Amino acid sequence: MPKHFLTLMDLGGDGITEVIARARELKALRGKPEHPRPLAGKSVAIVLEKSSTRTRISFEVGVAELGGQPIVLNSRDVQLGRGEPIADTAKVLSRYVHAIVYRTFGHDRLEVLRDNSSVPVINALSDEFHPCQLLADLMTICEHRADGLRDLKVAWIGDGNNMSHSWILAAASLGFELVLACPEGYRPSPRVLQLAATTGRGVIRVVKNCAEAARDAHVVTTDVWASMGQEEQAAARVEAFAGYCVDAKLMGLAAPRAIFLHCLPAHRGEEVSAEVIDGPASVVWDEAENRLHAQKALLETLLSEA
Ligand code: CP
Ligand code: NVA
Repeated sequence: MPKHFLTLMDLGGDGITEVIARARELKALRGKPEHPRPLAGKSVAIVLEKSSTRTRISFEVGVAELGGQPIVLNSRDVQLGRGEPIADTAKVLSRYVHAIVYRTFGHDRLEVLRDNSSVPVINALSDEFHPCQLLADLMTICEHRADGLRDLKVAWIGDGNNMSHSWILAAASLGFELVLACPEGYRPSPRVLQLAATTGRGVIRVVKNCAEAARDAHVVTTDVWASMGQEEQAAARVEAFAGYCVDAKLMGLAAPRAIFLHCLPAHRGEEVSAEVIDGPASVVWDEAENRLHAQKALLETLLSEA
């Protein structure tokens, strides 16, 4: 059975910690002759049904740096975009490539791909989860915080979306405190909160008040108010999320030397002020870079077990 990565639960707390440690080694080895090439002779399909800058480029470069061949497929360029079943696509791609990276809408589409694939499937973002981003975010915390993931409090401000769900599974896998401040009607899915509770780890609370979440947090993070696929709700969301902006005043409530994370792309003046995202607490460029290293470590791990 291939090992897949659809949510952080597929790696578990120890698996996440190992991938982050390996990502930090690979980061240090980048460009050196001793950098490993475990994907030599292997190909990875990167199938995208939504736009992407970071995910597409970090996977494409990452596969090449590991010695493999990346094949980027926008869904409109392949028969999947004309209605070929996901199950058939999975069976065919499995005959050609050694792993499939898939960005899509409904998370069920990833599950169908996984269930019909004989090679590892990696979630490159669904409407419900974005686990690759969390590997990079957690790695970035380890780089910038002396205590790493120990005694950690994270504040999530804004939408109970795919990124918030992945933070919830991160807290539940690794056992840290996560307080999410979300407006009524935009809270995380109860199903994800129930799934998180099955680990018995982490302290996860959903509140309405941003200050309550941010107070003494070591990490403050947020995401866009309207995710991909929600464009027609954008105006209503601007109204619903008024007051859910990470600005200097909110960051002032966080712990000394707290850092700001954002998966990007960001909307300055909406979920975050320019002063914060372009200011000294922001580590978003390291975070974006770490997508590359974290996904290389993930590919190495999944393909070594395939
Ligand atoms: N953060 C992230 O996944 O960015 P892209 O949508 O550009 O891939
Ligand atoms: N929540 C955002 C994340 C983008 C990387 C979206 O799904 O559009």
